[in-house]
Amino acid sequence: MVSLPDLPRTGTGLTTTEAPFIEEARRKGELYIHQPYELYSEENHEAWRRLYARMMPRWERYATEPFLRGLACLRLDPNRIPRLAEVNRALAPLTGFRARAVSGYIPAFLFFDCLRNREFPTTITIRRLDRLDYLPEPDIFHDVAGHVPMHTDPAFARTLVRFGDCAHTAVELVSTVRDRDEKIRRLKSIFRALARFFWFTVEFGLMRSPEGLKVYGSGLLSSYGEIAHAVEAPEVQRYPIRLEWVINQAFEIDHYQPLLFIVDSFDHLFHLVDRLERWMRSGKLDNVAPCEPEMNEQDLESFLQAA
Ligand SMILES: [Fe+2]
Repeated sequence: MVSLPDLPRTGTGLTTTEAPFIEEARRKGELYIHQPYELYSEENHEAWRRLYARMMPRWERYATEPFLRGLACLRLDPNRIPRLAEVNRALAPLTGFRARAVSGYIPAFLFFDCLRNREFPTTITIRRLDRLDYLPEPDIFHDVAGHVPMHTDPAFARTLVRFGDCAHTAVELVSTVRDRDEKIRRLKSIFRALARFFWFTVEFGLMRSPEGLKVYGSGLLSSYGEIAHAVEAPEVQRYPIRLEWVINQAFEIDHYQPLLFIVDSFDHLFHLVDRLERWMRSGKLDNVAPCEPEMNEQDLESFLQAA
């Protein structure tokens, strides 16, 4: 049990699932918001401080070199939640990427489209101080400390943009399908393939290096327990990435990943996204294996509206 220090109360708090500011934005249908920095409570900053302090030695040991370089470039304050405006001042000149504050879940097509425009939808709330370990939803530690340092790397940034392009290709392809049921069936299959690719690379990817396996996936980079488990645990299956396997492989989000894929470099990853798009155009993503992740109504609607 974590003991909570006697902290002065400043803002009303921007805590995951307990932030009136976020609830209000969602009620008004506002997806893109500003970061009301004054609302962070001292408990929120303390959660950031503890998360950052315990991750640092694990990043030094397990994270890929571009992540560590990115962390140094961004100069995040270990003691205070970052201001997105300051993060972007350091980030944008490097790759053109920006962290863009959102009120929560962004429907899939809009998410992809943000990547294409070098914007990363970024959660501004932070997990509770007494629940630092497991959180099903993203928070600012996952998004800014886990994802954003990777966006300082030009090769990785280029890959994300290319991945964002794939959503437009999907829309282009299904817009020619007249039959609505067939259009939806194909979209759901393509979406599963794209979501699985994102999961096994951007979120949970491993990379080969002269010093052994390193982590570049943000789901691992923001998890104190899983980053070590991913590299060290003998029961984890770690295989060189194969596109045909990744797009057909279901995953579950609520436990440590039993299966991880290894890339050689970000150029390798970029070429895989290229191939993913070619496979989409040739119809290879129209019938990928069923099961997780299923496309929810919001995600489906976002693609249908664009098609
Ligand atoms: Fe993520």
